[in-house]
Amino acid sequence: MSRLNRRSFLQQSAVMVPAVAAAQSAQGQSDKPVRHAVIGLGGQGNAHCRLYSNNPDCELVAVCDVDPERLAKSASEFGQAGNLRSTADFHDIINDDSIDSVSVVTPDHWHTPIALAALHAGKHVHVEKPCSHNLREGRVLSETARELGLCVQHGTQARSGEGIREAIAFTRDGGIGTVRLAKAINHQLRPGIGRAPETEPPEGVDYDRWLGPAPIRPFTKNRWHYNWHWHWDYGTGDMGNDGIHQVDVARWGLGVEWPHTISASGGQLFYDDDHETPDTQVVTIEYDSAFLVYEMRLWTNYTLEGHDNGVVFYGDKGKVDIGRAGCFATLIGEKPKKIGGGSDMEAHVANFLACVRANNPDGLNAPIEEGEISAGLCHLGNIATRLGRQLTFDRDSGRIRDDEEAEAMQTRVYRAGYELPTNA
Ligand SMILES: NC(=O)c1ccc[n+]([C@@H]2O[C@H](COP(=O)([O-])OP(=O)(O)OC[C@H]3O[C@@H](n4cnc5c(N)ncnc54)[C@H](O)[C@@H]3O)[C@@H](O)[C@H]2O)c1
Repeated sequence: MSRLNRRSFLQQSAVMVPAVAAAQSAQGQSDKPVRHAVIGLGGQGNAHCRLYSNNPDCELVAVCDVDPERLAKSASEFGQAGNLRSTADFHDIINDDSIDSVSVVTPDHWHTPIALAALHAGKHVHVEKPCSHNLREGRVLSETARELGLCVQHGTQARSGEGIREAIAFTRDGGIGTVRLAKAINHQLRPGIGRAPETEPPEGVDYDRWLGPAPIRPFTKNRWHYNWHWHWDYGTGDMGNDGIHQVDVARWGLGVEWPHTISASGGQLFYDDDHETPDTQVVTIEYDSAFLVYEMRLWTNYTLEGHDNGVVFYGDKGKVDIGRAGCFATLIGEKPKKIGGGSDMEAHVANFLACVRANNPDGLNAPIEEGEISAGLCHLGNIATRLGRQLTFDRDSGRIRDDEEAEAMQTRVYRAGYELPTNA
């Protein structure tokens, strides 16, 4: 499908209301709490469990992890009177017709496969960022959500921060004049991970399912919980990890979608360990009217331009800063004025639940179409960094022009039996 936005697609496809949506409204689901499950129970999965179980419009009914220790811990923390189903196999959740929606909070290489399986089973999805492990996955996920008319909220919760929404509106309404450059700054100290020997996986862990679509490799603790971020088979480096939050806000404020040119450099100037991904990276993303520059330094914790992680919009009348300290506008010759606060994960969950209850993907603060593009920018930045050359992107076809090697990196080889699920 060509790159229609959701609203115009829904207007054009009013006759294609999916069976799932019709059935849910017929059952009056909007009056009942949403029955939600969380798949992947690391730090962020437990944050999902907490927020979903605390929301009065929701009942947390199932949790899933391939690590029995983590599964047991979350089941005991969030289950009451044995009412929380726990399983190591996410298919048990996908196949449970009493479950309305799921959070996908696994490592990145599992995000799209599980999200797609959930959508094909008629469930709404809150998928953590980055929604995809490569550009093709994002495209398939976004198109599937649109075709089925289901809600898919992307884990970029800055989009639910009231202050950030005000700062973006101020920027887009010309508050600092014409904006021709936005910087997405990811600046923090991420210590090295050392070198880990190959060992047996921990007792009881389903490591094969953890690997899923990725190639079979021996277990090491550096490919395991959290450290997988720094290996290309599972993660997307820190551009797809923390950087995506800043890239997404920068793109939102500029009001742009796909770029025409991406150039990048990056490498390891600090790490000397099992990391495959860069510690230093600069990506320039070019649009017709503005540049988006992503700067990443993972080897220091001092703030730059007032930020550790943040976004700066530069207009011809001033600048807007969006960071952990809040959102500020500074007009030329004036002192900074605070516009508002930061990200809001609780509001993000509440927004998703409200949209699920109303069967209204149009109301999502971070719809998957936006997630697809922001994750896509991170993938393009990583491809340009890894190949060490500029990419030109054909916005109509979604192809990388005149570069077969880069184009091939829009997808990956899926381990047999773990290909992307389809409706067939
Ligand atoms: N939105 C945010 O601000 C935010 C913050 C932190 C993390 N995240 C995202 O959340 C995700 C998880 O991050 P984390 O730090 O909790 O990672 P983690 O590695 O600590 O946890 C991931 C969990 O998923 C489990 N898992 C892996 N494959 C599975 C499968 N097939 N079925 C069931 N469980 C499986 C693992 O055993 C592990 O317990 C990442 O994608 C990360 O980018 C988002």
